[in-house]
Amino acid sequence: MKDRSLLLAIESTCDETAAAVIDRDLRVLSNVVQSQDDLHRRFGGVVPEVASRAHVERIIPAIDEALRRAEAELDDLSAIAVTSRPGLVGSLLVGLTAAKTLSLVLDVPLIDVNHVEAHLFACRMTAGRAVFPAIGLVVSGGHTLLFDCRSSVEFEILGSTIDDAAGEAFDKGAKLLGLPYPGGPALQQAAVAGNPRAVRFPRPLLDSPRLDFSFSGLKTALLYEIQGTSHGRLEPAALDPARVADLAASFQEAIVDVLVGKCRRALERTGRKTLLVGGGVAANRRLRERLAALAAEAACEVVVAAPEFCTDNAAMAAMAWELLARGESAALDLDVSPSPIRKR
Ligand code: KG4
Ligand code: ZN
Repeated sequence: MKDRSLLLAIESTCDETAAAVIDRDLRVLSNVVQSQDDLHRRFGGVVPEVASRAHVERIIPAIDEALRRAEAELDDLSAIAVTSRPGLVGSLLVGLTAAKTLSLVLDVPLIDVNHVEAHLFACRMTAGRAVFPAIGLVVSGGHTLLFDCRSSVEFEILGSTIDDAAGEAFDKGAKLLGLPYPGGPALQQAAVAGNPRAVRFPRPLLDSPRLDFSFSGLKTALLYEIQGTSHGRLEPAALDPARVADLAASFQEAIVDVLVGKCRRALERTGRKTLLVGGGVAANRRLRERLAALAAEAACEVVVAAPEFCTDNAAMAAMAWELLARGESAALDLDVSPSPIRKR
């Protein structure tokens, strides 16, 4: 059954070990994600050394499972995709080594995929049709990036965060509020019962013509609010639940305001009519509501990645099919990088 022509995609940029099998029509035949949240919870964040060791243990079982669920054999694979950047170097090396080995042994092309670009390709997977050209916003634990996407494989960075990423702001804010790890979903949950106008947090760089972001001041503002409540001592456990809900809702609203405001500005500046939003924070319900409102107001189409394609996964690396169609396969000396900037 050699003519099945399937792509195996491997993802190990941070703390998810993932493998997926995708056919040439971008149908996802399997999408295996092994989260390491349980390992990192007690540290309150991802510990790089713990992450790479866990990838070593999990990468082959994840690939096996992806093939099994897709009812595929190694012989059915006609290309291997791997996200080689950006991410934690030790984590990236595990996925890259597995991908190179399979490419060499099976004698099929190795395709180098940029993880942040793949977060936007997740919108193409979600829509099930062409969505480029577009403005793209990637909001994850490690990155907040605005792109002008000329095509499915041509991305120009318009702006990025000058300090914390949006997901990092969610995670650090949740920690200050005494909420569980990972912080983004926990803060969203806490915010449900809160008033988003209870506290007027700053909207960093929102009025600046730049398309860059800054979130570290917002985190400091939250810290001051909490300390004010606890009379100078930081005791999140002592905050009453209604206050936590108000702080969470107001903090979330500030992040969402900035993200939506910058997207609006990028759409206006470029004249693009489509906005793509991907990355872990794109799973946020309030952000999704506000993006839907932006679509109506700016008369543009907004495609937010489906929840299963928002947080790290390998299926989004299906953009390898597009790269392969342009003859872009990688050599076996491909290296990893912590930087999102791709050299083509
Ligand atoms: O894309 P992702 O899985 O990993 C990176 O590439 O960083 O994103 C993870 C980030 C974390 O910061 C997590 O707290 C955040 O996405 N996140 C959320 C939500 N779900 C995940 N942030 C806000 N609301 C959510 N529902
Ligand atoms: Zn990611």
